[in-house]
Parts: sequence; C-alpha cells; structure tokens
Amino acid sequence: MKTAAASTDQPLKSLDDWEDFVEGQLYPEPGKKQKEDYRNYDNPARDTVREFYRLNHRYQTYDFVRQKEQEYLPLRKREMTIFEAVEFLNTLVDDSDPDIDLDQLQHLLQTSEAIRQDGHEDWFVLTGFMHDLGKVLCLFGEPQWAVVGDTFPVGCRHSGKVVYPEFFADNPDAGDPRYNTELGVYQRGCGLRNVHMSWGHDEYLYHITKDYLPESALYMIRYHSFYAWHRENEYGQLLDDHDREMLFWVRKFNPYDLYSKVPKKPDWKELKPYYTDLFNKFLPAKLAF
Ligand SMILES: [Fe+2]
Ligand SMILES: [Fe+2]
Repeated sequence: MKTAAASTDQPLKSLDDWEDFVEGQLYPEPGKKQKEDYRNYDNPARDTVREFYRLNHRYQTYDFVRQKEQEYLPLRKREMTIFEAVEFLNTLVDDSDPDIDLDQLQHLLQTSEAIRQDGHEDWFVLTGFMHDLGKVLCLFGEPQWAVVGDTFPVGCRHSGKVVYPEFFADNPDAGDPRYNTELGVYQRGCGLRNVHMSWGHDEYLYHITKDYLPESALYMIRYHSFYAWHRENEYGQLLDDHDREMLFWVRKFNPYDLYSKVPKKPDWKELKPYYTDLFNKFLPAKLAF
C-alpha cells in the first residue's frame, strides 16, 4: 500500500490526481461544467497538484532527461507480456479512495472500449489500451513528477502556456543561455522526433512500442500529455510538416483519454479474448521495458 501523500517527493495521493486535474479543471469536457475542486483552497488535492507541478517544473531539466533516456531507453529493465505489464501496473493502486478510483486496467479498458464503440480501426483500439503502460516507471522507482504530468520540450525556452509556468523560474535551464532561447539546442522546424521531451510515461512507451504500431498510434502515445502543443498550439518553431499532419491523430485520441470514464465497468473477463487477438495481431509475445 502506498502512502505517497506523506512524502514530499510524491505529493499526489495517486497518479490519477494529475489526470483528474487535467480532465476536471484544466480542460473540462466541452459543454460540461468545470469542476470547482482544484480552485477550492480548502481542498487539499489542489495543493498536492500544485506541489507536484512545482517539482516537475523544477527538476525536468535537459540533463535530467538525457540521463533518463540513457538509463531506460536501452529497454533492459525487464521483458513482459502485455498481460504481465498490465498486472504489474495494476499493483499501483491508490489506497486513498476505494470507491471512486479506477484501477489502471479500468482506465485503459474504458479508453479502448470507447474507441472501439466509435468504430475506429483496431490499431487505434490497441493504442487506447496501451497508452499509459509507461507508468510502470513508477514501479521502477521513479518519482511521480518523472512519470506523469504535462510534457514539454527540454533544451529550449519553456512556453508560458504549460500549466503553472511560474514554477519554471526554479528550473536551472531557465537561466542557462544554452537552453533558454526560442530554439535552444534545436534547429527551426527540426521536427518533434528530434526534440527531447520532459521524461515520463509517454516517451518511455513510445520506445517500447515503436517497432509494432503505425505512425499515427506512435504520435498518440508519445505526445498525449503534450498539452502545450495539442491544446495550446505552442512550440510551432520546432514542428515540421509531418508533426502538423500527425497532430490530427493526437487530437483525435485526447478525448478518449480524458472523457471516457463510464459508471459501468467494462468486464475484462468477457473482453479478454478480443484483446488477446488484438495483441497477437500487433505485438510480439514479450515486450522489452
Ligand atoms: Fe497518459
Ligand atoms: Fe490515460
């Protein structure tokens, strides 16, 4: 059982607190009322989200990201079937509110089932099912601020449209002339594939899946938390035509991630045969993490 709330390093009670914030407060579903929770000063969740972003913006530096890429991207931590990965991820259960919290499998299933019900192609359904598997980073000992949260490019000036931009003032890169200009270490129009993103579950899962899924799926996975791009249209100086084309898919995916929670839980037992076929169609027996 985690009691992460007590730790200064792990301010969120559960990883889902960040997603609830994005979905309920930052980008509420069109036509739905913004949840008041996070503006309410009496709500401790508001402070934990703030504290989470303070750490995230302070510590996600260019050097930190390069170091994590070297540590993880050889993908030598362990090999797992997708079932093992889901089971592993599901050990990351929040112990704070037993009635409302979805386990990780439920979030994945509700996302993928919503995609399936809209009649999308099977690779899209599979992407919905897999998109957060990179959160196993938490189980490898990474702090929350290096697993979830909005992602942003490192190595160039931080956009003021990233949530809680004031916290970037404490990021050493903000005072480093190599990294604090419009382009920083990059060339204009270099394409996002040449840009280092803040470290987290998106980038990690992209590398795990990059040999198996179509390009549009890989963009959904790699940039689904890059809200400053897909919601705020920032960082145009780094994009190329391919990114601009793929943005369509990243945007197509986002509502399924944020707004697919349903009161009646999909039945995993019943759905398992369908998903087993889907995994067999696209994925090798074991994935390297
Ligand atoms: Fe995610
Ligand atoms: Fe998600």
